[in-house]
Amino acid sequence: MSDLHNRKVYQPNPEFAKNANIKSMDEYHALQNKAIENYEGFWGDYAKEKLDWIEPFTNTLDESNFPFVKWFDGGKLNVSVQCIDRHLKRRGEKTAILFEGDRGDVQKITYNELSRSVNKFANLLKEDLNVKKGDRVVIYMPMIPEAAYAMLACARIGAIHSIVFGGFSSAALKDRIEDADAKIVITADGAYRKTKPYMLKPVVDAAITEGSPIEKVLVVERNNEEVTWVEGRDVSYTKLIKDKSDVCAPEVMDSEDPLFLLYTSGSTGKPKGVQHNSAGYILWAQMTMEWVFDVKETDVFWCTADIGWITGHTYIVYGPLAMGATTLMFEGVITYPDAGRPWKMVQDHKINQFYTAPTAIRVLHKMGENEPSKYDMSSLKVLGTVGEPIDPPAWKWYYEEVGSSKCAIVDTYWQTETGGHIVSPLPGATPIKPACATLPLPGIMGEILDPETGQKVGAGESGYMCITRPWPSMIRGVWGDPERFVKSYFGDVKKDGKAVYFTGDGATYDKDEYITITGRTDDVINVSGHRMGTAEVEAAILKHKNVAEVAVVGRKHTIKGECIFAYVVLKSGEETGEKKEINAFIKQEIGSIAICDDMVFTSGLPKTRSGKIMRRILRSIAKGEAITQDISTLEDPSIVAKISEMVK
Ligand code: WT7
Repeated sequence: MSDLHNRKVYQPNPEFAKNANIKSMDEYHALQNKAIENYEGFWGDYAKEKLDWIEPFTNTLDESNFPFVKWFDGGKLNVSVQCIDRHLKRRGEKTAILFEGDRGDVQKITYNELSRSVNKFANLLKEDLNVKKGDRVVIYMPMIPEAAYAMLACARIGAIHSIVFGGFSSAALKDRIEDADAKIVITADGAYRKTKPYMLKPVVDAAITEGSPIEKVLVVERNNEEVTWVEGRDVSYTKLIKDKSDVCAPEVMDSEDPLFLLYTSGSTGKPKGVQHNSAGYILWAQMTMEWVFDVKETDVFWCTADIGWITGHTYIVYGPLAMGATTLMFEGVITYPDAGRPWKMVQDHKINQFYTAPTAIRVLHKMGENEPSKYDMSSLKVLGTVGEPIDPPAWKWYYEEVGSSKCAIVDTYWQTETGGHIVSPLPGATPIKPACATLPLPGIMGEILDPETGQKVGAGESGYMCITRPWPSMIRGVWGDPERFVKSYFGDVKKDGKAVYFTGDGATYDKDEYITITGRTDDVINVSGHRMGTAEVEAAILKHKNVAEVAVVGRKHTIKGECIFAYVVLKSGEETGEKKEINAFIKQEIGSIAICDDMVFTSGLPKTRSGKIMRRILRSIAKGEAITQDISTLEDPSIVAKISEMVK
């Protein structure tokens, strides 16, 4: 604990702070106090100032049906207008999307060009694919500009997009298509990775089986690889887009009309379709760009995420475009051709803000410790991290070598469900500490609570990271399952007798009331900053015919943060190649990201007499810790020693 309280403090760079959007802690406290005193006034004022309304809203926050809340009710807007049209007069010729392909090809897309492409795309969806307001459209795309056009085209006509990360398997894609009851898939005929083509279309083909709700597959031509063509179902983007008009009137959307779904793993069951709605989401996406990254009109912003994750949604597409910045989109792999690639790109494109995951930082550090010094990275002002706790050594390298000890590091803590950042330093105001997300952002009522009493915990104590008031960009529902929405997020912690939003993460305050996120309290594993549900991985493993029982837990991994450790009980015999076969199943059912690094074959699992698997014990064994928990309540206590022996 003393480590936690005595971490070195780094003050904001005074030169930078002078021109920052939030310049001091006094300003931060003033904003937060304003929000505490007049919550609706705080948010209502920003919504009026920052959003272009077609019709103004009449009610800032309606909590009468909590946790089903409404923000900015009565208001009408269109998110694509917020991201494109409103910039055209002043910044039409400014680069909106700066694209760098895997092979180094660069494309600069101005706001005017973006407008034309998105309007055409929107007309294509409407006219050729019969997409209507409220229809679900699955996007299974590589990182190419057309992926962003597809998102914004959906927003323009009021269709709900659901992006599925290109690394997910056909089985995972199929589940998501069916759960959302989507009628269209948008994909590509290939993309490039380390200069070699890779294919998405065959995965789509395998995901659409008898009885699928999919009517049409729109194929964007990126590589002209040969792909199977299903007559009557598959249509060519190049062919159809040619004669489309570049004017498509934006659909007039209510503040609370859904904008997108994004599936994410929970601790139990299948992935949940997290629903985000229009006004509140786009407001916070834009405001956090201004506050957390301090992005200015002339800045070039690079977030290395994939658009298949929430980070890509909010900080490659919606946030940067809503505020009229230039956003870099990168198709390739950051360590290819070598670990200097991102630093070369920072130099080439004069990147001002760079945002990535701790896993990427660890890889770049390991593979190219001295690479940053080979490039001119003086354009950098703010560095960001997201997705998992960052460890102090990675933080130090990032701060000193990448940021030349002059850039603030914003350790942004948030989730798919929060839409945008919730706990993060402000680069011109917050004194930072290594590997610490610091303070809730202004307007976010984030508190670490004791789950038993609902009281705020003290310095040095651990508790549950909660948000005690609804905020504009919060999740609005789990698609098709309102009960699961209530139970998953509002069932664990009550403050003053009222349910509050629980993130699923544990956290600790230090003596300055800085928040350090300590990781999930549930059975979710965070692999390279991506959430994996234990139940999903276990279900995939159980598909193997010789598997009787399985339990998976997370184990620390030097690069990935956490990796998956599986304990498998076979139906018969010794292990003979099952590990390989099981991982092949996982690849097929979920995707390579869920492959297990460790797999031990045991004769049983530690269970209580009622049959509940004691994962806590399995986690300790995986860590190599001595078992100090009481195991006398187990059905067969001797199993613990047996498994420990095997893992050694
Ligand atoms: C989970 C959310 C947020 C976009 C990417 C992941 C963990 C996220 C941090 C951070 C420590 C973090 C949490 C959270 N997490 N950011 N800065 N420090 N942990 O989105 O897949 O919804 O995962 O990632 O455990 O609950 P996601």
